[in-house]
Amino acid sequence: MFITFEGPEGSGKSTQIARVADQLQSRGQAVVATREPGGTVLGEAVRGLLLGAEHDPAPATEAYLMTGARAEHVRAVILPALERGAWVLCDRYVDSTLAYQGAGRGLDLEALRDLQQLATGGLAPDMTLLLDIAVSEGLNRRRGAGEENRIDNETVSFHERVAAWYRAEAARDPQRWRIIDAAQRIERVTADILAQMQGVDELKSIAV
Ligand code: TYD
Repeated sequence: MFITFEGPEGSGKSTQIARVADQLQSRGQAVVATREPGGTVLGEAVRGLLLGAEHDPAPATEAYLMTGARAEHVRAVILPALERGAWVLCDRYVDSTLAYQGAGRGLDLEALRDLQQLATGGLAPDMTLLLDIAVSEGLNRRRGAGEENRIDNETVSFHERVAAWYRAEAARDPQRWRIIDAAQRIERVTADILAQMQGVDELKSIAV
């Protein structure tokens, strides 16, 4: 199963992925938890370049580098793990480029989708969890933890466009997306995620 986690800043994706991975591993499942940009040596270098940059790169530069790192990630990490039968839990994937570089920066969404096809060979998640939280609350959490990166420091209206894109996309494709209320307490969010994952696993085994 290939599960991606998406959401605005400060929605708690990385905390939840670690908790869910522990749960699955304690039930004897093989799990690969990974993130974008990142997950490979090249991807982590791209992360440093993009998130640590002092000046904003051109939006297209951001889109190409995020997507280039993804191609490497799919080939070197995600596909081999899926072939071994592991669960892959990925913190951000294609939808982040559509949300941030498309809705956020204003790049053409169709052109971005074509680029994703090139990078991933069409590999789509079995399920995508939207960890939904009000933009202001997420940003406060981030700033409280002193963890902001260059993109976190974008305007509130940028982050609102990102969040609105996620909600619209989740509503458009309820087959793939599940919306999780990420403002709840940590344990409740983990329980909701595990319940959704169990559902998709059962559906897939019936289909096979
Ligand atoms: P990170 O510190 O991992 O933030 P978060 O915990 O919110 O995921 O930084 C990732 C940042 O990169 C985040 O601001 C979203 C952005 N991003 C894009 O703009 N496009 C992309 O394709 C990806 C994968 C991430």
